[in-house]
Amino acid sequence: MNIYVWGTGCGAGDLIDRALEASRVTAFVDENPVCESFLGRPVISPRESGLREADLVIVTVSDAEGVSRRCRELGIEERRLFFLKNHLTLTERNRDTEPAEAALGKDFVEGLRGSERLIRRPLWTAREVLKEDALAVDYVRLKTLEMLCGQIRELPGAAAELGVYRGGFARCMNALLPERRLYLFDSFEGFDPAEAQGQGGGFVEAHRNTAAERVLSLLPHPEKAVIRQGLFPATAEGLEEERFALVSLDVDLEESTLAGLRFFLPRMEPGGYLLLHDCFSPKLPGAAAALRRYEAESGQRLHKVPVCDVNGTLVISA
Ligand SMILES: C[S@@+](CC[C@H](N)C(=O)[O-])C[C@H]1O[C@@H](n2cnc3c(N)ncnc32)[C@H](O)[C@@H]1O
Repeated sequence: MNIYVWGTGCGAGDLIDRALEASRVTAFVDENPVCESFLGRPVISPRESGLREADLVIVTVSDAEGVSRRCRELGIEERRLFFLKNHLTLTERNRDTEPAEAALGKDFVEGLRGSERLIRRPLWTAREVLKEDALAVDYVRLKTLEMLCGQIRELPGAAAELGVYRGGFARCMNALLPERRLYLFDSFEGFDPAEAQGQGGGFVEAHRNTAAERVLSLLPHPEKAVIRQGLFPATAEGLEEERFALVSLDVDLEESTLAGLRFFLPRMEPGGYLLLHDCFSPKLPGAAAALRRYEAESGQRLHKVPVCDVNGTLVISA
């Protein structure tokens, strides 16, 4: 079977770690590749002719609508596409699941069902910038962010994200907080190799596929962004006096998460919020472990509210 995988990010890395050996992939497909090969397989543009010969194109990016449109333009039939993301429309989109079941196994495909029952409401704010595709990635996470941004409107202090990757969430923060300085901390080259030992190869390599300039180009208000590139916490040097009203902490692994908690929590404005991503994710136990260590070492019981988004964010209020 001639299998193409659309995307070279986390979705693709996760697919390879969980369900499909990279050697079975003819090529990965990316509109704007930051790499020529991914997990030992070539990365091609959708325009390249090979894609039209695909038996199955597994779409791992969240913009299902955009990929669908692009494939129509290129003459690739919808029935050969199989979507893994865009939780809200998977059943409608993946009508013929047989080829995907042959490639990925029945259990994997069955496991995708049942996560598309949520009723979406549009954003009240930033409607022009954040279109439907942003909501489809993780509706609850984004609506929670929107409401928290409303709560901090009167507070002083900067916003920050530690763990930016391709800027999906940073773009939402920037759109919802157009007046606020936004610090963006990331290596933009993936995890600290020592810390990432023992993680899946697809997961690790996918996180290398990004670039600070690309993230900046996505932001509606790039003039408000301050890129701090490199491994945290070294990149926080010089910001000891800064105060924060809203922080997204999303570095997946324990030591970096703990470093983020140690830096940001003492610098939060009263009434501000820190969003700790992945706190209830069985795949990434590091975030919850780091929080337990922080509470033990600081002797504090933090004020926390769990959010039922895809990976279980914990909102910590200052
Ligand atoms: C899950 S991704 C972030 C996703 C992003 N918050 C979003 O929702 O779109 C994790 C990111 O953390 C970064 N990271 C992990 N540990 C880091 C560290 N110690 N210093 C800088 N960046 C780090 C990785 O490079 C990766 O881009």
